[in-house]
Amino acid sequence: MKHLFIKTFGCQMNELDSEKIAGVLSDLGYSLTDSPDSADMIILNTCSVREKAESKCYSDLGRLNELKKERPDLLIGVGGCVAQQEGTKIVKRAPYVDMVFGTDNISDIPGLLEKRREKAKNRVSTERRRKRVLLQDNSIVKSTVLRNHSVKALVNIVDGCDKFCTFCVVPFTRGRERSRKPEDICNEIRGLAASGYKEVTLLGQNVDSYGKDMGGGTGLAGLLEMISEIPGIERIRFMTSHPADFNDNLITAIAKLPKVCNHVHLPLQSGSDAMLDKMKRNYTYAEYKEKITKLREAVPDVTITTDIIAGFPGESDADFNKTLKALEEMQYDAAYTFKYSKRPYTPARTYEEQVTIDVKKDRLNKVIELQNSITLAKNKECEGKEFEILIEGESKRGSVSLTGRTRGNKIVHIQKQEGIFIGDIIQVRITFATFSSLMGEVVGF
Ligand code: 5AD
Ligand code: SF4
Repeated sequence: MKHLFIKTFGCQMNELDSEKIAGVLSDLGYSLTDSPDSADMIILNTCSVREKAESKCYSDLGRLNELKKERPDLLIGVGGCVAQQEGTKIVKRAPYVDMVFGTDNISDIPGLLEKRREKAKNRVSTERRRKRVLLQDNSIVKSTVLRNHSVKALVNIVDGCDKFCTFCVVPFTRGRERSRKPEDICNEIRGLAASGYKEVTLLGQNVDSYGKDMGGGTGLAGLLEMISEIPGIERIRFMTSHPADFNDNLITAIAKLPKVCNHVHLPLQSGSDAMLDKMKRNYTYAEYKEKITKLREAVPDVTITTDIIAGFPGESDADFNKTLKALEEMQYDAAYTFKYSKRPYTPARTYEEQVTIDVKKDRLNKVIELQNSITLAKNKECEGKEFEILIEGESKRGSVSLTGRTRGNKIVHIQKQEGIFIGDIIQVRITFATFSSLMGEVVGF
């Protein structure tokens, strides 16, 4: 048995791709290891959404080169968005890399390894596939995804993005939107249910535009209805939504379908209309707010999370203060916050009036400080209340506790106790809340 170590950067789409990479390589006799030192092959599944993630890939490669000098047989692969974006540039810059595969090319790994054995020169595969031949086909999907969890699974429903927000590299790395057929998705999920999975998260860069490239028909709301019919699946999540496409049908689906979880991740990016316009987000803050109001009316206990960018080119103090005001008004349960960073191919990288690094840092700190206090207050509101949680595994803190999530996606730790197992859905009362998680006591199972 050969050992494989995969390091995954970035979003859940990359996490799922890593499970597919592990699946393809397990068919070739590789088993996963947690330790790079004992690995025969190391794969970096990279992210290029922000500059920091991309430079991390190159610094990690430098370290792997040192490891390879000690162990020349070690195989090094680079996949994901940096691989897609950079292609052959990676092997030019890091000639010790044995293979490079793009986001559509996981199924090419066996061929790339074969080429390497034959000492062929070309060891890069980043060709974009219109029809995704492998890994969409349900006859093989089960055997080619080596999943990290046993009760919850990631399922992609749409790849790529057509939005072209002016800061974002994703449309260039992941390509145009391609939706999977509803029947393929449902077949995959039926298979997951048969293997004991209770929760699925439907993934896409913009799940709200699911189906548009197939001429309308089943949209996300319709898909949620179809998946709700699948016995054994108890919870359905989806991400990421886009405020311009997030519509009444979806709000109704979340409200009326009991299996659909009460959590929406709806990236705002900025509270300033001028910035939203320059970002090409296609909504104003007032429109966004109206949708949130409707959502909260229809689903009163909904958890809402967001993404915020601080220091987009041209952002003035007044623009930035509108973002702070929006955070106060929206009262998000959590926010992922980023300093704007220039990305290749994107229009915003050429905009004049780039904000200085010091101002960006200062604004990001302010956003984080404000949101942290809101997140803590939101979590504190949970104290004394009861929630249903799905037990996902042992808590990282030690083997004395178990970890689960509420339907609103908040992490809850409970004491281990007899009769409660991974995969169980139980009722807990929250005894204590911190900024990052909740502690609970079991009230029923
Ligand atoms: N700079 C900073 N943040 C970015 N994001 C995407 N591109 C950039 C960039 N160039 C953030 C957005 C997006 C999240 C996934 O990453 O907030 O919603
Ligand atoms: Fe990037 Fe915008 Fe597409 Fe999201 S919607 S992936 S931010 S281009």
